[in-house]
Amino acid sequence: MADAPILVTGGAGFIGSNLVDALLARGYAVRVLDNLSTGKRENLPQSPRVELIVGDVADAGCVRRAVQGCRAVVHLAAVASVQASVDDPFGTHQSNLIGTLNLCEAMRESGVKRVLFASSAAVYGNNGEGHAIDEDTPKAPLTPYAADKLASEHYLDFYRRQHGLEPVVFRFFNIFGPRQDPSSPYSGVISIFTERAQKGLPIAVFGDGEQTRDFLYVADLVEVLVQALESPEAVEGAVNVGLNQATSLNQLLAAIGDVLGGLPEVSYQAARPGDIRHSRANNARLVQRYRLPEPPTGMRQGLAKLLGL
Ligand code: NAD
Ligand code: UD1
Repeated sequence: MADAPILVTGGAGFIGSNLVDALLARGYAVRVLDNLSTGKRENLPQSPRVELIVGDVADAGCVRRAVQGCRAVVHLAAVASVQASVDDPFGTHQSNLIGTLNLCEAMRESGVKRVLFASSAAVYGNNGEGHAIDEDTPKAPLTPYAADKLASEHYLDFYRRQHGLEPVVFRFFNIFGPRQDPSSPYSGVISIFTERAQKGLPIAVFGDGEQTRDFLYVADLVEVLVQALESPEAVEGAVNVGLNQATSLNQLLAAIGDVLGGLPEVSYQAARPGDIRHSRANNARLVQRYRLPEPPTGMRQGLAKLLGL
């Protein structure tokens, strides 16, 4: 088992490829299962300790082969865009729920126990108005994306109780950093705003820009994921992953403007349907169970790193 790889589904994507780098640096072998829908081959280093399987988590046979012989799994493969799920609920569901179920079955069959799951702050819907969201905040999925993430959590919990799987569920808030692909309107807001600002292209804000998010730099997230893989125990109960810091899009734009020394034209357009207004993590459980870098990467520092400054 010493050389058994860690399977990272979605490992050619933004968070996945940053995790792969960290795992390689710690001496692990890594297997990636990715359909390259938003991920890229170039995100993965050339290394004899990295194996890429190009395939779909919605394909049960493919998932079974990928899980075989692994020591643990990090399940990141999904359509990451909330808006994409609004536009294509059925297509999203294949990746975001059927993919999780295929993985649970494959793990049950092969006896692989530990799985980290990338759930989302989206499961809380708009229940974060005016306060930090703890894990017991009522769930209110507003979009197909959020419904699939919450349902995936329930399936993982069923396989924990029934079949001894060791799921560790993280509800990521908004992650940013290098390799977050800015090329689609479905991309994460910081990747879009920073790329457009660098190129001097106009920026569109959906809504009044006063909506808030709790942004975490990807390297800090990856530290937590590695600890969860290495921990002897998989403690039950989902864990919010954020900094308990709200940044509005208008504040984000101001920070980007400061770091770059100016901003292109900014226009305000209709808000997206199902868009969450305020999202900030109560991260007490996170800091109790895991060590975040001290201090965590701040917004301006993270932007400067992302922009290579
Ligand atoms: P990403 O789009 O860069 O990564 C997703 C990866 O999964 C890509 O490489 C893509 O090609 C792959 N993929 C998608 N559908 C697949 C399928 N059916 N079969 C195989 N591979 C598939 O996005 P990311 O930001 O790195 O997101 C990673 C995970 O974290 C996702 O599950 C996302 O929902 C979750 N998440 C992200 C954030 C964030 O702020 N970025 C926050 C909460 C949760
Ligand atoms: C993001 C993640 C999602 C995750 C969730 C957890 C992505 C693509 N989405 O969703 O996977 O589960 O956080 O909190 O990584 N916006 C603009 N202009 C743009 C793009 C976006 O104004 O060009 C706005 C959106 O309307 C939204 C905010 O920026 O109000 C953030 O959008 P986005 O980065 O897509 O993130 P979430 O929807 O929060």
